[in-house]
Amino acid sequence: MEDELLEKAERFIDRPKKEKRIHKDADLFKTYDEVFDQRTLKFLTQLISKHIIDTLDAPISTGKEANTFIATEPTGGRVVVKIFRVNTATFRALNKYIDGDSRFMNTKKSHVEVIYTWCRKEYQNLIRMCDADLRVPEPIHYFRNILVQDMVRLEDMPAPPLKECALDEEEAKEIYDFLMDFIRRSYIDAGLVHADLSEYNVLMGDDGPVVIDVGQAVLVDHPAAEEFLLRDINNVNRFFRQLEGKLDAKEYRKSIIEEARLK
Ligand SMILES: Nc1ncnc2c1ncn2[C@@H]1O[C@H](COP(=O)(O)OP(=O)(O)OP(=O)(O)O)[C@@H](O)[C@H]1O
Ligand SMILES: [Mg+2]
Repeated sequence: MEDELLEKAERFIDRPKKEKRIHKDADLFKTYDEVFDQRTLKFLTQLISKHIIDTLDAPISTGKEANTFIATEPTGGRVVVKIFRVNTATFRALNKYIDGDSRFMNTKKSHVEVIYTWCRKEYQNLIRMCDADLRVPEPIHYFRNILVQDMVRLEDMPAPPLKECALDEEEAKEIYDFLMDFIRRSYIDAGLVHADLSEYNVLMGDDGPVVIDVGQAVLVDHPAAEEFLLRDINNVNRFFRQLEGKLDAKEYRKSIIEEARLK
């Protein structure tokens, strides 16, 4: 059974590797080489054997630390699979965030374990946010360095980031209000600061904006939480700089912290 699955997964990566000889420069094939080390391949096979996914399909994006793909579930539904690259660069980038998080302290971790912890942290942050009724993708599963989540879709395709969307003034105002409310409710109801909120991490789906990429989100008791909170507010203000009537970032942060204290 295991052998059969491994073979299935290997067939999956074999295909692009063979094609790579022909299309040396294609980004797609770079993606396969970066992500599919033997270990990750085995974990993917395990996800297939657990019936979490059936096939891994097209790549969506190559980020700094992770690669994201569309996958198909055994039921035919489509989901998003985010695979964190297991290497020293990823370890260095992520370790500093895990260090200050009270949920993950007290253990000395190897490089690999830090990356797995990060993946679990993103999964747990998504759960906290979903529980607080915040608009983030529903997490489906995590295993080692692989996170499976609901696909945010626009007409059946992965939704584009806010960065790529043209907005009229009314839409801009609506999304601005949505993001400021997201920041507030995330802090007060979920006890989290996103810490990397930007036009790249908001997807414009069929049912409106959805916030993604919550791996770096920290608990409100994190030593840098208030600084990250201000940075998120400033990022939203910067993206909507043309918009009239924006909130004063420091005042808004103060009001959020006070409201949380009174809760
Ligand atoms: N749930 C989702 N539904 C649809 N598309 C998604 C989803 N999650 C991620 N994506 C797509 O994949 C891209 C990368 O995902 P994400 O922002 O989570 O990771 P990342 O930016 O690679 O992380 P980093 O760059 O910080 O390492 C997004 O910009 C988006 O286009
Ligand atoms: Mg991102």
